[in-house]
Amino acid sequence: MRLRLTLLTAVLGSALLAAFPLRAAEMPSVDDLEAQMGAPAETVTVYEPHLSVGDEHVTVDYVGYPAVDVLARLFGADWASQAETVELRALDGYVLRVAADRFLAVDAFFVFALGDGSPFTVDNLLQNQTDVPLGPYYLVWDNIGNPALIEEGPGTWIYQIAEANLVTLSDTALLPEGLDARFHEGAALAKEHCLRCHLVNGFGGEKHEGNLAEITKDYEEAVFVSVVLAPLSVFEETTMPPLSDRLAEDERQRIAKALFDYLTAIPVLD
Ligand code: HEC
Repeated sequence: MRLRLTLLTAVLGSALLAAFPLRAAEMPSVDDLEAQMGAPAETVTVYEPHLSVGDEHVTVDYVGYPAVDVLARLFGADWASQAETVELRALDGYVLRVAADRFLAVDAFFVFALGDGSPFTVDNLLQNQTDVPLGPYYLVWDNIGNPALIEEGPGTWIYQIAEANLVTLSDTALLPEGLDARFHEGAALAKEHCLRCHLVNGFGGEKHEGNLAEITKDYEEAVFVSVVLAPLSVFEETTMPPLSDRLAEDERQRIAKALFDYLTAIPVLD
């Protein structure tokens, strides 16, 4: 509820509108969803990216419904032509935005239980957390036999989903007029790696409070780079994950510096 109000405030109060929610839906209870779907839930077996380290894949059975069918229930059969992006919001403020087309190309499921009936939780190794509750819903991707999806890791998986929205996105908040074009890559990198949890000028997730465009201006570059590459070297404990360790070390350094340059250059608008 709090999130919805925040979004509405942004819609009414700001000319620098970042995300237009065309359609918004609170996720129904599992009982209601089962009744609406009119078919038994399926069991889907995946490599659980939160538990998989390197090439050691951990297989888990989940129970749920195909994402395309759930989205059709929530928004109507033509949901994919209503907006280009599906925005999923979690109870803790985490936000994931997925191109609608991707749901048509790759099988995903909204799951709500484990196949063996054990508690619906997972250990999130990257975030140093154990027994993280996954409900009400968890978006999982059918990644077995799909090396590209396995390579992506947990970045496109989201648990504790409470809301689904169909949105169109505008880059005005991230690329305000007058920002030099050499910072555009930094904006794209922030979108890819940071804005599921953080806000920049009102655009993004709300897992950590504050505008990164403002916060970063108080950081020395070296400390900022350490936060991005190894959060535990700066914070005693944190759920912020290090920038993907699947990238080469010099590329991780380059991305951290590009993010610093972008976030110190962009004006604070919100
Ligand atoms: C999965 C969520 C998540 C992602 C993704 C993430 N962060 Fe964080 N970040 C956090 C949390 C939570 C904190 C608060 C640290 C703590 O635990 O005290 C934080 C803290 C920070 C801080 C310090 C904030 C302050 O108030 O001083 C900076 C700077 C930061 N993150 C930058 C980034 C950048 C840049 C990226 C992208 C490369 C990123 N974060 C990706 C969750 C995330």
